[in-house]
This record gives sequence, C-alpha cells and structure tokens, in this order.
Amino acid sequence: MQTILVTGGCGYIGAHTLVDLMENGFDVISADNLSRASESSLLGVEKITGKKVKNYTVDLTHKKETEIIFKENPSIIGIIHFAAYKAVGESVEKPLDYYDNNIGSLVTLLQMAVEYNVKHFIFSSSCTVYGNPDVIPVTENTPFQMAASPYGATKQMGETIVRDASIAYPLSTILLRYFNPVGAHPSTAIGELPIGRPQNLVPAITQTAIGKLPKMQVHGDDYDTRDGSCIRDYIHVCDIAHAHTLALQFSIKQNTYKSCEVFNLGTGNGISVLEAIHAFEKVSGIKLNYEVGPRRAGDIVSIYANNDKAVKQLGWNCQYGLDEMMQTAWQWEQSLAK
Ligand code: WQD
Repeated sequence: MQTILVTGGCGYIGAHTLVDLMENGFDVISADNLSRASESSLLGVEKITGKKVKNYTVDLTHKKETEIIFKENPSIIGIIHFAAYKAVGESVEKPLDYYDNNIGSLVTLLQMAVEYNVKHFIFSSSCTVYGNPDVIPVTENTPFQMAASPYGATKQMGETIVRDASIAYPLSTILLRYFNPVGAHPSTAIGELPIGRPQNLVPAITQTAIGKLPKMQVHGDDYDTRDGSCIRDYIHVCDIAHAHTLALQFSIKQNTYKSCEVFNLGTGNGISVLEAIHAFEKVSGIKLNYEVGPRRAGDIVSIYANNDKAVKQLGWNCQYGLDEMMQTAWQWEQSLAK
C-alpha cells in the first residue's frame, strides 16, 4: 500500500490533489487543522471518487500531535505539504503568525519524515518567490528577488529548508512553484472557498457575477503592459493537482535520495486582468460590473512561467485553457448559490 499524507487536504489545491492521487492508485490521508478550510471538502472528494478520506485535525506545528499520524499509518511513503497561511496582505499585518505556522509546520513535517523514514516530500511553493522578475517568462533558474511580503518570504525560506534537509537526510524532495491556480473540478463537487471578501481575481469575478459582491475593482490599468493591467499565468487547479501525482511518480521512479528538484507549474501564457475579465464575460454571457481603481500595493506587474522542465521531465501537459478555467469557476460559484 502506498499511502500519501496530504497536509492542507481540506483546502482548495489539497482537495483537488487528493482526487487526482486516488484516481491514480494512491491511498491518501489528510492532515488539516481546519483553520482555513472545512472538512466538507472531503465530502466533495468522496462524491467524486466514491472513497472516504480520513482527516487528522492536528496543529502541524505541534510535534506530539503530528507524530500520532505517523505512528498510526506506517504505510506513509510520501508527504505533500500544502498546509500554510497564504494571504499576502494578512502576512504583512501578522508576520509572526505566518513564520510560526508556515515555517514551524514545515520543520515538524521534515523531522517526522526523517524519523519515520518517509522518503518522498513535495513542498507547495509559489511563483511569488521570484518577486518582480527582470526577465519573463521565468525559468526555475530565474534568481529570486527580495520577497514582497512575509508570505513570499515563508515560501523562499521554505525552499531553503527543504533543500538543506535533502542534503543532510535521505529525502527525495520536490519544490513545486504554482503560478495562479484558478477554476474548479468539472463535477463542481469541490472548488475554491475564499474566507471573507475574496482577495484573488477569479473568486472576485465570480462573486461579483453571482451578485455576492456589488462590483469589483481592477487594481490599476496604467501599468507598462499591453492593456495597462497586470499579467499573470492563470492555471487550472486540476492541472496543478495532476502535476503533484506526476511529481510523486517521478520521485518514486527516480529512487534517488538526498535530491531536490524544482518545477514551475504554469501554463506559459501570460493573461492580463482585463483579458481574464473578458474571457469570463464571454463564457458566462454576463457583463461584469467592474471599475478601474488604484494599483494594489505589492502587485507584480507581469509574470508567467517557462514550464518546459515540468513538461519534459514530468511528462506534464496542461489540459485546461482559459475558457475552461472561467467556465468551471463560474459553475462552482453557481453551485454554491444553490
Ligand atoms: C491577480 C491580479 C491583482 C483581485 C497571490 C499570491 C500568490 C497566490 C495567489 C497563494 C493582480 C488583480 C485581483 C481584484 C484585481 N497566493 N486583481 N481585482 O496577487 O497574483 O497572487 O495570490 O498561493 O502566491 O501572491 O493573485 O488573484 O490576488 O491577483 O484587479 O479584485 O488580479 O491586482 O494584478 P496574485 P490575485
């Protein structure tokens, strides 16, 4: 039995990854303290896969609590670590909460991996580690700039911690740098559940379209880009999820220990805020109520991925285009309204 521990399994990317792992023959366990997610996500996972997933509601910064998972599940061969706080603005207001939670949980899990001989460790990183890149698209060798927020700093530090652990201990580690995950599983059984007013673009679009928000703001259209709005690499959450399964299979097949590989998970296409809004309007048939407002502090002007390494080495190919990203996001929002 190949059991994979997915931390943050009740979260947006975590739940989609549980589905993909199960569809590819892995046995899975979730560990999620439910501070930012609901266990109802696992009901959605069960609806898609027909299988129940056990969740350990533990604080992953507490070693004794976390150790119970490993004592009770000796068949764990890999860990995919999603569990972390991820709100850029909140990290500026509460940096110590971010360092305590994001770094503390990572160190605890790596200690467990070493103590319980768990070889495969996949770390959820982010394109935010690049900061405002001088050259785009970014490759895995694009140098980091100073992190634009404590959230970004926890991802940069997290990569260093995983890399150092893979040098000292017999771990096969992989760092996955997500660009902008959007959309939802086509079944609409799982999707993004922002807490409070959505900070991210696509939930802001769909909540405005469904009437939960009266209107939305485009944070600036005076940037040096083709239409003045910021450019990002939006990527469907199911493509991100499948990349985790492929990365795990790659790590198991490679069978090398004391290794650390890094992959960009983006489509390679840069899309502007206004282009994303127009794509949504096209697939939904809804005229979105938005206005152009001031720039948002800390925003990167333009970033998108060179994903050649993941395509070539993981055999990964994005299945969803921008229209499907918007279509599934919209279907999910409509399902929430029912
Ligand atoms: C995208 C663009 C906004 C909302 C952050 C983190 C990243 C990841 C995803 C955690 C920007 C514009 C947004 C709105 C807008 N987080 N926008 N109006 O900032 O690229 O990435 O979230 O994993 O690590 O850095 O994503 O969706 O917030 O913004 O105009 O109501 O949409 O200004 O240009 P971002 P985003």
